[in-house]
Amino acid sequence: PSLEKEFLPMYFGWFLSKRSSEMLRKAGQAFLDELGSLKAFKKESKYFASAIEDPKIKIDLTSYFVKRPPGVLHCTTKYTDFGKAAGAEEYAQQEAVRASYGKGFVLAISALFITTKTVGARVELSEQQLQLWPGDADKVLPTDNLPRGSRAHVTLGCANGVEAVQTGLDLLEFVKLEKAGNKGDQVGEIGGGKLLYFDNGMWMLTLAKKMDVKAIFSGYYG
Ligand code: 2AM
Repeated sequence: PSLEKEFLPMYFGWFLSKRSSEMLRKAGQAFLDELGSLKAFKKESKYFASAIEDPKIKIDLTSYFVKRPPGVLHCTTKYTDFGKAAGAEEYAQQEAVRASYGKGFVLAISALFITTKTVGARVELSEQQLQLWPGDADKVLPTDNLPRGSRAHVTLGCANGVEAVQTGLDLLEFVKLEKAGNKGDQVGEIGGGKLLYFDNGMWMLTLAKKMDVKAIFSGYYG
């Protein structure tokens, strides 16, 4: 039996360097701070009710997204659940996966987003990086047909009681709206990008200049 069969990780993904993790965490923090004190956001803050102390002053989104990943940040490619997940073996045995294991990459962060459940960073994958992207990742329903890599993201935080898997599902919701022709309401320019509102507490900051982060493709064993 191959090594992979006996020791499949909980998930495969790109693990950001310590410096890149700190940089992205900071950008996410600045986004939450700026958003929380924005007039347009406060007007729509009913979706984040538990974060409202005095809505005239500030919505505390940092304490709203209370579950934050410890240590370095990552972008999951395939959740293999130690080999139990559907397609886990097939993924691990792919030539691109084997050849890339332990190798360095630069990922492009194109946007930051929040929903009532999660805060995350959108990752724009290159053609080469898409070779490591599983074929089934961008579907929630079997009928979904979204561009490959649509779900690629880094989880920055989750609201109380929400699991990290939700961040990718939330990003797919944004992409579905975009695909349906909904470009969001452009609320203004903040922190180096365009702030878009998609209703229902869904906000996205598209970065004017994409943020490059360094990452190693590897597995997480828990
Ligand atoms: P994330 O990629 O959105 O952060 C361990 O739970 C990691 O695997 C988390 O980072 C989590 O979400 C991701 N994860 C958990 N369950 C998953 C699933 N069913 N599909 C895809 N990713 C999952």
